[in-house]
Amino acid sequence: MPMFDEDNITKFKELETPFYYYDLNILRETLDACTNASAKYGFHVHYAMKANFNPKVLDMIQSYGIGADCVSGNEVKAAIEHGFGKENIVFAGVGKSDKEINLALDADIFCFNAESVQELFIINDLAKAKNKSAAIAIRINPNVDAHTHHFITTGLDENKFGINSWQLPDVVDALRKCDSLKFLGIHFHIGSQITDMEVYKNLCTRINEMQDWFADHGFEVKLLNTGGGLGVDYHNPDTNGTADFESYFKVFKDFLNVKPGQEVHFELGRALVAQCSALISRVLYVKNGQKKNFLVLDAGMTELIRPMLYQAYHQIENLSRESESNERGVAANRQSPTVHYDVVGPICESTDCFQKDVEMPESYRGDLIAIRTTGAYGEVMASGYNLRDRVGSVYSE
Ligand code: LLP
Repeated sequence: MPMFDEDNITKFKELETPFYYYDLNILRETLDACTNASAKYGFHVHYAMKANFNPKVLDMIQSYGIGADCVSGNEVKAAIEHGFGKENIVFAGVGKSDKEINLALDADIFCFNAESVQELFIINDLAKAKNKSAAIAIRINPNVDAHTHHFITTGLDENKFGINSWQLPDVVDALRKCDSLKFLGIHFHIGSQITDMEVYKNLCTRINEMQDWFADHGFEVKLLNTGGGLGVDYHNPDTNGTADFESYFKVFKDFLNVKPGQEVHFELGRALVAQCSALISRVLYVKNGQKKNFLVLDAGMTELIRPMLYQAYHQIENLSRESESNERGVAANRQSPTVHYDVVGPICESTDCFQKDVEMPESYRGDLIAIRTTGAYGEVMASGYNLRDRVGSVYSE
C-alpha cells in the first residue's frame, strides 16, 4: 500500500515543513501482524519505547495490550502515563541512576533487566530501604554477532552491555546475598536491524546454554527475554512494509528450549514503528555545480540523524514531481528528466547529507520531499542543534 495519495499531498502543501507524518493505518496493520504472529505461541511482546515515544504512537501500541520496554526513568513514567500496565514494564539500561531505580521501584514495575553485578547490589539496597523486593532478569552478553552496523551491535564481548558469561559465578553469589531481589530469569539483546534469521537461531542456542547454567546452579529460570532487533525493509517501504514477524517468532518457537511454565518475552522497537512514518520536508534551494548537484532541504540531521550516524539508507521521494500534478499545476510528468542529487540539509556540518547521488526527477524550490521509513529512531533522536525549531508531527487521522 503506497503511503501517499493526492489527498495527503494536497494537505501537505498547506503545512509548514519539516514534520514527521504518521500513517496510523500502517501502524495498525503492523501491530495486527505482530500480535497475531506472537499470540500463536503465547509470546509476550514489550514495545521498546526508545524507538518512538510520540504520544499517539504510544497510545495505539498500548491499546494492543503490548508491554513497555524502557531505558530511562522518564520512559517508565511515560509508559505509565500512557496506560501501559506496571506489570508489563521492563527496565533495561547499563547506567540506571539511583533516582531512576527508585522511580521504578515506586512504580512496582514487572522487572529490572540488570546489566552488572554492581547494579544488583544497588537495586537490592534501594529496594531494601523501601521494604520492597525487586524482580530481576540478568542481561547476559552472549557474544553473538548480529551482523548489523557496528554502531548498533550490542551483544559482543567488546560491547558495554550486559554481563559476560565468565562473570556469572559472581552473579549467582550476588543473588544469594541480595535478599531484596527476586530472580526471574535472563535477558538478551544483541543488536538492531537484524534481518538474518540465522542470527536469532544462534541467539537461541546461547539462551538454551545459559538457562541450563542457571538451572545447574539452583536457580529456576521463569523468564526468557530475547530482546528486540527485528529489522525492516528500508528499500521497499510500500511493497514490503511489514516486518517478517512470522519467521521471527517461529525461529524462537523452533529453537528455544522453552520449559513448562516459562514465559518468553520480546522487546521490539523498530519493527513496530519504522514504516508508519515519513519525514516530510521542502526543497529550499537547488544548487547545480560542476561536479555535483545539491538539493538543499529544510530538514537536516537535526530532524533525522540516522543517515549521518549509521550511514543508514532511507528512500527519498519527490512527492511534487511523482504526484499527478505539481505545485505549478503542470500535468504529471513521470518521464521528466532525472538528475543525480546529493540530498542535504541546512545544518552547518558537511556530514549533514541524507544521501549522495540520488537519481530523482528534476526538482525545484518548494517541492515536497518524503524521506521514508523514519518512524523508528527518527523523531526521538531529533536535536536542537543550531537552535533549530522542534520538528512537528502530523497524523493521517
Ligand atoms: N531492547 C534493548 C535492551 C535495546 O537496547 C533495544 C534497542 C531494543 C530492545 C529495541 O531494538 P529494536 O527492536 O528497535 O532493534 N538508534 C539506532 C538503534 C539503536 C537501538 C538501541 N537499542 C538506529 O537508529 O538504528
